Amino acid sequence: MKILAIETSCDETAAAVVKDGRAVLSSVTFSQIEEHKLYGGVVPEIASRRHTEQIVKVTRKAIRDAGVSLNEIGAVAVTAAPGLIGALLVGLNFAKGLCLSLDKPLVPVHHIRGHVAANYIHYADLKPPFMCLIVSGGHSHIVKIHGYTDYEVIGRTRDDAAGEAFDKVARVLGLPYPGGVHVEKAAGGGDGSAYTLPKPCVPGSPYDFSFSGLKTSVINLVHRIKQTGRELSAAEINGIAASFQQTVCEILAGRFMAAADEHRCKKLALAGGVSANGRLREILGSLARENGCELYMPPLSLCGDNAAMIGAQAYFEYLDGHAADLRMNAYATYPVDKSF
Ligand code: KG4
Ligand code: ZN
Repeated sequence: MKILAIETSCDETAAAVVKDGRAVLSSVTFSQIEEHKLYGGVVPEIASRRHTEQIVKVTRKAIRDAGVSLNEIGAVAVTAAPGLIGALLVGLNFAKGLCLSLDKPLVPVHHIRGHVAANYIHYADLKPPFMCLIVSGGHSHIVKIHGYTDYEVIGRTRDDAAGEAFDKVARVLGLPYPGGVHVEKAAGGGDGSAYTLPKPCVPGSPYDFSFSGLKTSVINLVHRIKQTGRELSAAEINGIAASFQQTVCEILAGRFMAAADEHRCKKLALAGGVSANGRLREILGSLARENGCELYMPPLSLCGDNAAMIGAQAYFEYLDGHAADLRMNAYATYPVDKSF
């Protein structure tokens, strides 16, 4: 079954055609980052307006690149949650219009389940059950994936998501938006043990995360340096970036491995924008080897937002009977363990 997938949850207008949840026939992404960079973050109204302008062009290209006609499409999938509500509504209403005119089923997809499905594209033999660490701009979750659409949340962040912490630290270090990749670049020139930063725990919830205290420590560290009447040196920026990155990655990987151990799970996966981070991949890779676990990580090209991952997850949602009718709404937040 060929699924046309649409993704407009944040600052990427994307469309893709995916066959049977695994084979990507086309994937087109229009990134708005350059425009949002001017404001140091995503401006929701600008995002919605750009989606509105780009969605037809991007979808036409995805259909053309796949070499299919609209009649060969079996269903239209769309990210229905979570994300910027105005941005989501552009994609959802566009998908509904297509479904109405083509008389095809509509398959709503949870964006975070899409990130997990990026792994199904890269690893043709990866099947649930497995345990997944999902780290994006809005989420830090440890989930047990019992089936393609059967999720159990084992741990989650109580405040900032990992990606959000990277972005905020980048901002205080004077690095551009989106911060994660720039923090990683700066960290490459620094020493991860240059500064000792806290690893906050959530009492009674060993697999939950809390990153706001860590972020505040970095902000205080920077303020203390600036209070001496000077700007940060390049060496200080690199050292703080490296220490922050090392601390976040140790927290994420350590709690994930402990959760996997308690749940006796040896099949592990990583997902979400932060999974592009080389240090996180390195630390997880060596912990997985030491513990005799298989570790699946999406290729860098599928770590960020794209529509191919939405098309992949949509296939399994469709098989499990999760198509929606045309009253479907979009949601800024929605539990990852609840199907639409
Ligand atoms: O999954 P994603 O593309 O969008 C959301 O669904 O949120 O994740 C974006 C997040 C941003 O916070 C970005 O700074 C972070 O992923 N990110 C990274 C890296 N690349 C992207 N964080 C750390 N290291 C990276 N290399
Ligand atoms: Zn995402």
